[in-house]
Amino acid sequence: MSETQSTYNYKVVRQFAVMTVIWGIVGMLVGVIIAAQLVWPDLNLGFLHFGRLRPLHTNAVIFAFGGSALFATSYYVVQRTCHTRLLWDGLAAFTFWGWQAVIVLAAITLPLGITQGKEYAELEWPIDILITLVWVAYAVVFFGTIAKRKVTHIYVANWFYGGFILAVALLHVVNSAAIPVSLTKSYSAYAGVQDAMVQWWYGHNAVGFFLTAGFLGMMYYFVPKQAGRPVYSYRLSVVHFWALIFTYMWAGPHHLHYTALPDWTQSVGMLFSLILLAPSWGGMINGVMTLSGAWHKLRDDPILKFLITSLSFYGMSTFEGPMMAIKTVNALSHYTDWTVGHVHSGALGWVAMISIGSIYYLLPRLYGKPEMFSVRLITVHFWVATIGVVLYIASMWIAGVMQGLMWRAVNADGTLTYSFVESVKASYPFWAIRFVGGVLFLSGMLIMAYNMVKTIAGGRSVDDALVLQPAANHA
Ligand code: HEM
Ligand code: HEM
Repeated sequence: MSETQSTYNYKVVRQFAVMTVIWGIVGMLVGVIIAAQLVWPDLNLGFLHFGRLRPLHTNAVIFAFGGSALFATSYYVVQRTCHTRLLWDGLAAFTFWGWQAVIVLAAITLPLGITQGKEYAELEWPIDILITLVWVAYAVVFFGTIAKRKVTHIYVANWFYGGFILAVALLHVVNSAAIPVSLTKSYSAYAGVQDAMVQWWYGHNAVGFFLTAGFLGMMYYFVPKQAGRPVYSYRLSVVHFWALIFTYMWAGPHHLHYTALPDWTQSVGMLFSLILLAPSWGGMINGVMTLSGAWHKLRDDPILKFLITSLSFYGMSTFEGPMMAIKTVNALSHYTDWTVGHVHSGALGWVAMISIGSIYYLLPRLYGKPEMFSVRLITVHFWVATIGVVLYIASMWIAGVMQGLMWRAVNADGTLTYSFVESVKASYPFWAIRFVGGVLFLSGMLIMAYNMVKTIAGGRSVDDALVLQPAANHA
C-alpha cells in the first residue's frame, strides 16, 4: 500500500468505545445497587451483599468503563497524532479480547468472594497474569505506533498516555507480587506495614495514573479538537507532565495517616500531596484556557460542556485531595463519607465526564456520521449527569463532616456524646440523596446508550480510515 493510501485502524477503537458505554452502565448500575443497600439494608441479595458487590462496582467502573475509554481514546489519538496505523492489528485485537476476558473473570470471581483483599487490586493471581500479558501487548502496540510515526514530534497527549501505560505496568507487577497456594488463593509477597505501604503506593498511583494521567491525555487531544483551538500553552503542558508524574509517586502515605507507618513517611506523603496541587491546577488551567476566544461555543456545544465541566471537577477534587492529606484535616475526614464524596467528584465529575465527552466525539466518526443521532439528547445527558454528580458529592460532604464531628464529640466527663449507630441513623437522609444522584447519573448513561444505538443504526462501521498526509510536520 502506498504512503498516501495507508489507513488508520478504527475497528479496535470502535470496539472499545462501544464497550465503554456498556461497561459504564453495568458498573454504575452496581454502584446504584450498593447505594440502595446502604439506604435499605434489607436489600442484601443473598451472596450479592454489599461486601461482595462493592469491589465489583469499583473494578467495573475503574477498569472496565475507565479502562475501555482509555484504550479507545489512546488508540485513536496515537494514530491520529502520529499519522500512522497502529503497529500491529492482531496484537491490538488481543488487547481488546484479553481485556474483556479480564472483566468477565472479575465479574465472576468477585461476587464469589475470590479476592486478594487489596483495594483496587482484588483480582487473584491467574487474572493478574492475564492483565500483565494484555498490558505488555498494549505497551508494544502503543509505543510501536509512536516509533513508526510519520511526524517527528510526539504530541503531549501521547506523553500522558505513555506515562500511564508504563506506570500502571510497574504498579501492577510490584503490588500484585504474591505466593499462590491454589488457583483461587494467594498470599501477598509483603507483610505487615510494608504490605500496607506498597498497597497504597499502588492505590494512590492507580488514582494518579489510571484515573488521571490517561484522562489528561484525553483532555490534551479532545478539548483542543472540540474547541477548534490550539492548546493554551504547549510549554505548560510539558512542565505539567513532568511535575505531575514525579510528584504523584510520593503521595501514597496520605492514605495511611495515623497508622503504624513511620511518622516521617506520613509527613512526606502529606507534603507531596500539597505540592501536587500545583501541577494539577496547572493542567486544569491549561485545559480550560484552551477555550480562550471560543467561550461562546460552550453555550450550544454539549460535548464541550462535558469536557470543560469535567475539568472543573478535576480542579475541585485536586484542591480537596491535598486539603484532606493534611494530617489534622484527615483526622476528621478519614473513614467518613467525605472520602467517598471526594472519590466521586473525581470519578464521576472528572473521569466519567471527560470519557463521556470524548466518546461522544468519537462515535459519529467511527460510524461515518457527521454527528450523533441527537445532539439535544447529549444536552439532556449533560444536565442529568451534572445534577446527579452534585447531589452525590454534596450529600457525601455533609454526611462526612457530620460523621467526623459526631465521632469525636465528647461530653464534659470524657465519654462519647454519640454512639456509632446514632451517626449511622443521622446519615440515612444523605445516603438517600446519594442514591437519587446515582440514579440520575445512570439514567444519563442510558440516554447515551440510546443515542449510540440510533447513531450506529443510521451509520456504517468504519474499520479503516484514510490517513491524510500532514501538510506540515505537526499533529
Ligand atoms: C492532587 C490530587 C489529589 C490528592 C492529593 C488526593 C488526596 C486524597 C486523600 C488525602 C484521600 C483520603 C485518604 C484517606 O483518608 O483514606 C484520598 C482518597 C481518594 N482519592 Fe484522592 N486526591 C487527589 C485527587 C484525586 C482524584 C482526581 C481522584 C479520582 C479521579 C481521586 C480518587 C481518590 C480515591 C479513589 C480515594 C479513596 C481511596 C480509598 O480509600 O479507597 N483523588 N485522596
Ligand atoms: C451511578 C454512579 C455511581 C454510584 C451510584 C456509585 C456508588 C458508590 C457507592 C455506594 C460506593 C460505596 C461507598 C461506601 O463504601 O460507603 C462507591 C464506592 C466507590 N466508587 Fe462509586 N458510584 C458510581 C460511579 C462511580 C464511578 C464512575 C467510579 C470511577 C470511575 C466510581 C468509583 C468508586 C470508588 C473508587 C469507590 C471506593 C471509594 C473508597 O474506597 O473510598 N464510582 N460508589
